[in-house]
Amino acid sequence: MSRKKFIVRSNFTDIANFAKMIPTRSKMLDSGSPAPVPATYPINELAKLIHPGRMKLKIDRIVEHSDNVKSFILVSAEGKKLAPFRAGQYLTVQLKIGSSVLTRPYSIASTPQNARDGFYNITVKRVPDGFASGWMLDNLKPGDELTAFSPEGTFVYEPIRDAKTVVGIAGGSGITPFLSLAGSIADGSCKAELVLLYGARNADEIIFREELDKLNQNDKIKVVYVLSDSNEEGYEKGFIDAKLIQKYAPEHYSIFLCGPKAMYEFAEKEIEKLGIRKKNVRFELFASASKPEAIPGFPMDKAGLTFRLTVRQFGKETQIECLSHESVLVALERAGIEAPARCRSGECGFCRSKLVSGEVFIPSNTDGRRIADVKFGYIHPCSSYPMSDLTIKID
Ligand code: FES
Repeated sequence: MSRKKFIVRSNFTDIANFAKMIPTRSKMLDSGSPAPVPATYPINELAKLIHPGRMKLKIDRIVEHSDNVKSFILVSAEGKKLAPFRAGQYLTVQLKIGSSVLTRPYSIASTPQNARDGFYNITVKRVPDGFASGWMLDNLKPGDELTAFSPEGTFVYEPIRDAKTVVGIAGGSGITPFLSLAGSIADGSCKAELVLLYGARNADEIIFREELDKLNQNDKIKVVYVLSDSNEEGYEKGFIDAKLIQKYAPEHYSIFLCGPKAMYEFAEKEIEKLGIRKKNVRFELFASASKPEAIPGFPMDKAGLTFRLTVRQFGKETQIECLSHESVLVALERAGIEAPARCRSGECGFCRSKLVSGEVFIPSNTDGRRIADVKFGYIHPCSSYPMSDLTIKID
C-alpha cells in the first residue's frame, strides 16, 4: 500500500478572526432587546409571498374576446399581494363542478409587473368536449372566487441557456405566455428579443389583436400572423413550417412553442429539420391526450375497459371506477377526490403517487418521471392510463 504525505497549513488570519467572534457575540447578546422574538421575519414573509401554496382570488372583471374566448382578470380576494411569477409561467386554478374537484393550468397572459400591480390575467378558450373550459366560460362572473396555486412552469426565457432571440410559435389561446413575454420585453424587465409567429385559421380568430399590434411597434418584437384557411394581404398563408421559421428567424435563436396538440405534432417535426440544439427548444402543452388509444404503444386489447381504482389517502381507502381511456387523475377528479396536480401533462411532478399494485400505460412523450421514481414504482396520474385494477397511494 502506498502512503502519501499531506501538509495542512493553518490560516492564522481565520483563527484570529474566529477568536474575535466570541467577545463580539457576547457583546451583541448583552445589548439585545429583552422584547419577545417577533412572530414573523421579513424573510419569512417574502418566502410566503413567493410560495403561498394556495391563493384566494376573485374575478375582478371579464373581457369577452368572443363567445368562446374570455379573459378573467383576477385579484386577491383577501387584499393580499399576489405571488410573483416569470413571464411564460402558468397558474393552476381549482374548480368545484358538481361533485368533481378538478384543477386546470392556464398560462398567465399578463406581465410580472401586472402581478406587482395587483392582477393576473388568464384567458380561457372553449375546448370542444372540454369539461372545465366550457363551464368557466358559461358560469363564472365578476365577484366569483377561485382557489389558485402558486405560479409554476419552466416555459420561461433563461438568458444563460437561451439565445438572445426567441422565435415563438403560438396557436389559438397558446398566445398567452407570449403576450406576457412580449409585455415584459416591452417594459424592459426581460432582455430578450421576440419573433412571434402566431397561427390562426382566419384573421377573426386572432386573440389580443390590438395588444399584439401595439407590441409589434417595439423594435425588439416582431409579430407575424399566419392564417391557415384564408388568403389575405398582410398575413402569411399556410402553416408554421421550417421554411417560414427560417424566413423570419435570425442566425441564432431559441424556439418556444405553445398551441393546440395538432400544431405541436406538426411543428415538432418541422423544428427537427432546423437542427436546433435541444436545450434551445421549449414546448408548453397542457392537457393529457384526448384519445389515448391513438397513442403509439397503447395496448388495444384494453381499449374501452373499466377497472377498479383503490385510492389510499390520509389513512383512508376509497374505491372508484376508472376507464382505460381516461387518465388516473381524471378518474380521481370525477370521483371528487382532491388530488394534487398542476401541469396535467406529466411534467411538473405535483401529482406524483405511489403505484401500490396494478398496471398503467404511460405514453413515452409525457413520462416526466425521475429515474428513481420509475425504479421505485411512482407514477404521475395525469399521464397514466389504467390497464388493470389499480391501487395507488396519494401523499
Ligand atoms: S400534474 Fe404535473 S405531472 Fe401530473
